[in-house]
Amino acid sequence: MTRRTLSPAAYDKLTAAVARDTGDRRTAALWAHAAALARHAHDRGLAPADDRPPGPDGLLKSLEELAGCHPALAPLADPAVLPLWEQPLGSAAWAAIEEFWDRHPALEGEHRVDGYALGDAYQLLSEEARKGRALCQTPPWVARLLLRLSLEPAMEEWGPADVRMIDPACGTGHIAVAAFHMVRVPPLRGRGSHPGWGGPQAVERALASVSGVDLDKYAAALTAYRLLACSASVLGVRLDRVPASFPVNVAAADSLLDRTEPLLAAGTYHACVANPPYITPKDPAVRDEVRAVYPQVAAGKYSLALPFTALMLERLAVPGGFVAQLTANSFMKREFGRRYVTEFLPRFDARWVIDTSGAYIPGHGTPTCILVHRARPPVGDTVTVIRGIRGEPHVPEDPARGLVWRAIEDAVDSRLAWDRFRAGLDDSRKGTTNT
Ligand SMILES: C[S@@+](CC[C@H](N)C(=O)[O-])C[C@H]1O[C@@H](n2cnc3c(N)ncnc32)[C@H](O)[C@@H]1O
Repeated sequence: MTRRTLSPAAYDKLTAAVARDTGDRRTAALWAHAAALARHAHDRGLAPADDRPPGPDGLLKSLEELAGCHPALAPLADPAVLPLWEQPLGSAAWAAIEEFWDRHPALEGEHRVDGYALGDAYQLLSEEARKGRALCQTPPWVARLLLRLSLEPAMEEWGPADVRMIDPACGTGHIAVAAFHMVRVPPLRGRGSHPGWGGPQAVERALASVSGVDLDKYAAALTAYRLLACSASVLGVRLDRVPASFPVNVAAADSLLDRTEPLLAAGTYHACVANPPYITPKDPAVRDEVRAVYPQVAAGKYSLALPFTALMLERLAVPGGFVAQLTANSFMKREFGRRYVTEFLPRFDARWVIDTSGAYIPGHGTPTCILVHRARPPVGDTVTVIRGIRGEPHVPEDPARGLVWRAIEDAVDSRLAWDRFRAGLDDSRKGTTNT
């Protein structure tokens, strides 16, 4: 099936049309998105009932059924997450939603169950999430590179069965879902695929390894849904057949300030991977609170990305844990980044600095870079830097195949191949073998 892409303006138009009924755009976006989520579950045979009951009341019933499938899906029937029960929808607004998703059938190619398009649709529908909390999806190909430089070496060091990763700004879960797949089917160099990675144990293990936290309650619920949809699909069962004991480590919380959320416990993760918000907190009280907790990085009109680095390197990671982030490069050019660059980052073991400002990353108007550190003092004298030379000559049709992005991936591949070659040589000199 060819995926039909609708323009961002079409999503805005839908939110505006539904808002004429709900009175506010936030609830309108949630009605429209929840309808897409219910379709996703029904169209892929993941929902307990065969057919979607009609009308807005039918959607509420579907959400209640989905919420009953697994404890992690309970937020889908929680009015504090989805205030739909309090603001019923009229027939014209419902017709607009139905017609929209009919024109955008099933949101993505028929073989995909992981809900990438669902995540993207939430960003497109909710201006409040985009502007208020800087929700901006991390494309899967960016997520994969971040994970290759963090989760993959963490799996090699601590073993795929024991590794734990978190995205503390998980949004709708693009990075968490990619991490789930990477842990479930770890890249095993030269050993062929592991026979044990398709069954229930592998799914349970991968779920246990991956955690996500986001301030946005609905985005967090969507991440949980997507992880369960992937699990159900790998197991070939409906959502209500995924054992309730399988852990889904997703929470809605303020990762920077919450000290009670168990998923944010100190010294827990072998890999912390994020595309944190780059905005400056708008609320002066929050700005000051974050500044008080992170005085080492939150100076002047700081970007939230800086306290997120401190959170991951100083709190969440185990000693030596890998921390990878796609972040705005504004800290390199503006005053608020001075102390971060001269005093904070030099305390940690920098592994990679990649200039991605020339790459075309949809939705990321701000120039970006990738930083990878280990949560330990600097070791050795090598930091791998991939410097940009020039930007994309034009917007690539497929951003994952853009000239700049491909050049970055080639440079990463060459460096990783060289590192492996050298490690192999060292092992053979020591008389050990590296399989
Ligand atoms: C750039 S988006 C991350 C997108 C995510 N990687 C994805 O692909 O869906 C930044 C996310 O940070 C979240 N966020 C902002 N402030 C936060 C905070 N204090 N604690 C947790 N999450 C926060 C926003 O809600 C938003 O989802």
